[in-house]
Amino acid sequence: MCGIFGCILKDGDAAPLMHAALKRLEYRGYDSVGEATLNNGQLYLKKDRGKIDEVHKVRNLDDLPGSIGIGHTRWATHGAPLEVNAHPHVDCRGQIAVVHNGIIENYAELELELQNRGHNFKSKTDTEVIPHLIEEAQKNNSSLSLRDAVIEAVKRLQGSYAIAVISAREPDKIICARNESPLVIGINQNAVYFASDIPAFLPLTNKALMVDDGEIVTLSLEGVEIRKIADSRIVPREPKIIDWTPEMAVKQGYPHFMLKEIYEQPECLRNTLRLQEHYVDLMATFLDRAREVYLVACGTSYHACWAASYMFSKLAFLPTYPVIASEFIEQHGKSVNIDSTILAVSQSGETADTLASVNCARQRAATILGLTNAIGSTLTRVSRVYIGQQSGPEIGVAATKTFTSQLSVMSQLALRLAKKRGKVSQDEMDYLAERLKKLPETVETIVQTQEEKAKQIAEKYKDAKTIFFLGRGISTPTAYEGRLKLMEIAYVPAIAFAAGESKHGPISLVEPGFPVVFVCPRDETHKTVIGNIMEMKARGASIIAVIEEGDEEIKNLADDYLEVPSGIPEVLSPIPFVVPLQLVAYYMSVDRGHNPDTPRNLAKSVTVK
Ligand code: AGP
Repeated sequence: MCGIFGCILKDGDAAPLMHAALKRLEYRGYDSVGEATLNNGQLYLKKDRGKIDEVHKVRNLDDLPGSIGIGHTRWATHGAPLEVNAHPHVDCRGQIAVVHNGIIENYAELELELQNRGHNFKSKTDTEVIPHLIEEAQKNNSSLSLRDAVIEAVKRLQGSYAIAVISAREPDKIICARNESPLVIGINQNAVYFASDIPAFLPLTNKALMVDDGEIVTLSLEGVEIRKIADSRIVPREPKIIDWTPEMAVKQGYPHFMLKEIYEQPECLRNTLRLQEHYVDLMATFLDRAREVYLVACGTSYHACWAASYMFSKLAFLPTYPVIASEFIEQHGKSVNIDSTILAVSQSGETADTLASVNCARQRAATILGLTNAIGSTLTRVSRVYIGQQSGPEIGVAATKTFTSQLSVMSQLALRLAKKRGKVSQDEMDYLAERLKKLPETVETIVQTQEEKAKQIAEKYKDAKTIFFLGRGISTPTAYEGRLKLMEIAYVPAIAFAAGESKHGPISLVEPGFPVVFVCPRDETHKTVIGNIMEMKARGASIIAVIEEGDEEIKNLADDYLEVPSGIPEVLSPIPFVVPLQLVAYYMSVDRGHNPDTPRNLAKSVTVK
């Protein structure tokens, strides 16, 4: 996730206005920033790594001439946060500049093709292919307009993009195009703007045009023209009046970042399906060679590791040890060695306990692999290989979208390893890959259909003194994650354990009306989970079950239930099953009068550069 913004003004300089607008988009990314403007047929550019204020102090982002410009605030997906990787990116002659939010999946092959045609690449980004493709299109047909050259270029792209392009050859316009990344246009009498999100231009205008996938937009002072990329057909569209306050706009109309981020999960899961094969393969190779594998993390990331240990075991027959990072040194510090592999998982890439474990393991010559949402973080710097999960900044302290994305990445790793080891038949591989691809849609259905029910359940149980969360098998970490969400934002004491343990102590707490949440996929544990539900019911517990659609058996036993679509393979089940629990925690926090985004005593780790 990055933020893009640009404008064409009737009067005045674009740069100071872009600077202010990019600040309003900083919540979409903040590891580098850049702007390009056009003035008297010349392209001017400034960019650097760092937050906007830091870069501005050194480079003065307001000091670029011209009333037309494009800008970018970055959350790295390909290429570390360095000046050379910051946007805008330009063609060989420095005439065409591009900003981009999204992921170009086929950039490596396009880059090779363009290099063979003599193009000179400077960055390690996926974006840089775009200005070169546009340059190439105009080289092959010198009369091609910028708009048509952009159409030719984007037709070659696979992946997601919202792009904006300026060219010294046509200095009065900006061309934008969109596929699966947000893009909105703002208009008033004196200017036209484009942006990733409405807050960027909301103080300037409340008239907005939404751009759809597969559309290309020409912005000029004459107006806005939207066409279909496929056949250049003009699409008429009327502007909408936006009545959001600036605060609502930043949250895109959601009352809290946490709810917005729960809703962003389908998009984030889609991003995880665009990982570079090469890195997944490399990491799977390291895992394959390891004598022992530790999955090390804290909090929610630890729960992801714990669930992943079931995936590695069930799919690739690889035993792995999930370890809470704060315990790693005490537990394994003396035995970890050159044959050990540590897969450290951290949204921020900066969590002290996780980094301490990694340091200890590095000193003992172990191999470090990293999975993080923050490219450029310490974890990426100390890892032999790392994967960026590409979820974009998570502003709510409670991790939601980053958890499901971590699970998606690790399920892909487990699948790749299973393939390497020949442990899963081709039919099963194909089936699982297909189901993995469907997960964004599945999660979309869950948030849309279960939000209301989650609200009702939260309202009903909001005064509970304690709540149990139980699961079996791979659903045990899901239960723990549901409990962590509830405790940290709703301040409800909650206890989680493997359902099989209930008879060994915890059940003594249960009395009539005691709420017990069960995570119940229809996997091999289903029958035993029913047994555990019966035990709880016999003691008068109120059962809240997360079930698959059509699971009449558990539906009939439960006092309340939340449903996920049926037919989810066991190894992928934590991804959809956690979503209703996130929603219940969110609404319980709100019902109890708390702000779920900023739980007391907790803060989000941030990447320190
Ligand atoms: C959970 O909602 C928390 N945000 C917390 O448990 C978090 O997962 C933990 O602190 C680890 O953070 P990391 O993934 O950035 O390392």
